[in-house]
Amino acid sequence: MPNGTGILPIQVENLWKSFGNQTVLKGVSFSVNSGETFVVIGGSGQGKSVLLKHIIRLLVSDKGEVRIKGTPIMNLNTAELYEIRRMMGMVFQEAALFDSMTVLDNVAFALRMHTGLPDREIRDRAREKLLTVGLKGVEGKYPSEMSGGMKKRVGIARAIALSPEILLYDEPTTGLDPVLASAIDELILKMQDELGVTSVVITHDMKSATRIADRILFLYGGEIRFCGTPDELMSTDDPVLRQFIRGETLGPISPL
Ligand SMILES: Nc1ncnc2c1ncn2[C@@H]1O[C@H](COP(=O)(O)OP(=O)(O)OP(=O)(O)O)[C@@H](O)[C@H]1O
Ligand SMILES: [Mg+2]
Repeated sequence: MPNGTGILPIQVENLWKSFGNQTVLKGVSFSVNSGETFVVIGGSGQGKSVLLKHIIRLLVSDKGEVRIKGTPIMNLNTAELYEIRRMMGMVFQEAALFDSMTVLDNVAFALRMHTGLPDREIRDRAREKLLTVGLKGVEGKYPSEMSGGMKKRVGIARAIALSPEILLYDEPTTGLDPVLASAIDELILKMQDELGVTSVVITHDMKSATRIADRILFLYGGEIRFCGTPDELMSTDDPVLRQFIRGETLGPISPL
């Protein structure tokens, strides 16, 4: 184990989740190793975002447990959950910025909530995080004044504000041009290399997945269809996976 802690940062155990009569997760289990970049792929509506939201307990499972560094989180009280969430940053699929706050205040939000630092230092740290994601001179702008790609990067700066040990990214490169998408991939790898961050990344982008992943999990029909290294994925003979990787319309997966 890279960090030598012996405690797994994320363990997902037999997770079940239904909405009404639709069962989205059907007994999903896996662990993420310390310092690993773990990528989740799968078709639209297959439960990727739902899975990620359980890991930070924005959703509560019907059955099963999630452990963060050994602590089961499904039944924590608010104060305990607060402590666990302090270790984690999440980049939401739709950036989810506060529209009424400037870029700087969006990034500073968690620092104001969780630290007693003086405001000057909070603002310096927020600026530093914006620089990390390649944004300069936009501190005073409002989200509505920025492009989708810029908002994505502000979302990442906000997620890394507290220098979390665990980062969860929901489609960080979707909707970005190829150059920006590569820059985000490099940022994810930099967080892993320089800070030893453990990441779970949801993506549709197979190029990005194979570039950043230590391991890839393929979610299909509420279950894990595959979990392994990018090389193992590329050499699979599973017709469902092969169709997904190649983006073909003909095969076991129906496009509509
Ligand atoms: N809060 C909710 N209430 C009811 N149904 C929900 C809720 N959240 C998700 N779902 C349903 O669960 C299923 C899985 O949704 P999810 O957002 O996890 O898909 P996804 O794999 O992330 O898809 P995409 O790639 O399009 O983002 C969908 O059918 C969705 O409508
Ligand atoms: Mg999603």
